[in-house]
Amino acid sequence: MTARIVHSIEELRAAVAARRSAGASIGLVPTMGALHAGHRRLIEQSVRETACTVVSVFVNPIQFNDAGDYDKYPRTLDEDARLCGEAGAEIVFAPSNAEMYPQPQLSFVEVAGVSERLCGAFRPGHFRGVATVVLKLFNIVQPDLAYFGEKDAQQLAVLRRMARDLNVPVHIVGVPIVREPDGLAMSSRNRHLSAEERRVAPSIYRTLLRAQALVAAGVFDPGQVSREVVSEMERQGLRVEYLEIVDPHSIQPVERIVHTVLVATAVWLGSTRLIDNVVCTPAS
Ligand code: PAJ
Repeated sequence: MTARIVHSIEELRAAVAARRSAGASIGLVPTMGALHAGHRRLIEQSVRETACTVVSVFVNPIQFNDAGDYDKYPRTLDEDARLCGEAGAEIVFAPSNAEMYPQPQLSFVEVAGVSERLCGAFRPGHFRGVATVVLKLFNIVQPDLAYFGEKDAQQLAVLRRMARDLNVPVHIVGVPIVREPDGLAMSSRNRHLSAEERRVAPSIYRTLLRAQALVAAGVFDPGQVSREVVSEMERQGLRVEYLEIVDPHSIQPVERIVHTVLVATAVWLGSTRLIDNVVCTPAS
């Protein structure tokens, strides 16, 4: 099955309205393209749970704080549309910058607190750009359900909070991280790794699993867990941008690990920045 590619908001609205008036539920999977098996999992879940799946493919300029990173972002619409069709999506919404931002954007969505730590601290304005484009997509598509990966756990927390705070009538679904067989979380950035960096990269997840084991074994001091994990990552040759142990909803640090926590990290391998996370539940 091939997915229908739609470039204009007007055409997208008409296509979705036709399906909705026929009684179809609408699922939205927002992406920036360069689709891989991680994205595919989101699309397949939407296809199972809704009657009509829309995949948006849009490299959103306002969430990049580095112009080089934006320029370098892979753009592979033909292959993306093929993957969407194979996975059972009905519509690929691929707007241009001019379609999404016909005039300078003056209105933004700011989700305080949840967006301030982890990636938010190192990529100023990033979550403001994400929340703004996702609210625009929600308003354009008006989906019943929208699917986001737990790979970007802070993004998921920001968007859940936004939808609640602003009464957006959408159900947000979190989808578990899809990994390579050696544990590396799938990412469109993995293609920038050299052979040597790719060899080291699985140690990110291996070391996060160490945090999970420590917490399960009764270590409740977040400082102890993070010291052990960071020094192991550095031994493996990773440059750690941050490693934080936070509440999975508020994305605020915890003093003691007494409930489920999110252990989230961003590391640099050469000039490539990779993120990953695990959820850790203390021994009861
Ligand atoms: P993008 O990086 O293309 O990711 C699109 C969706 O796929 C996100 O919800 C992300 O969490 C999910 N995803 C990526 N890799 C995954 C993996 N290995 N396992 C599970 N899910 C994975 O995230 C964005 O785009 C943008 O910020 C966006 C939300 C589209 C707004 O522009």
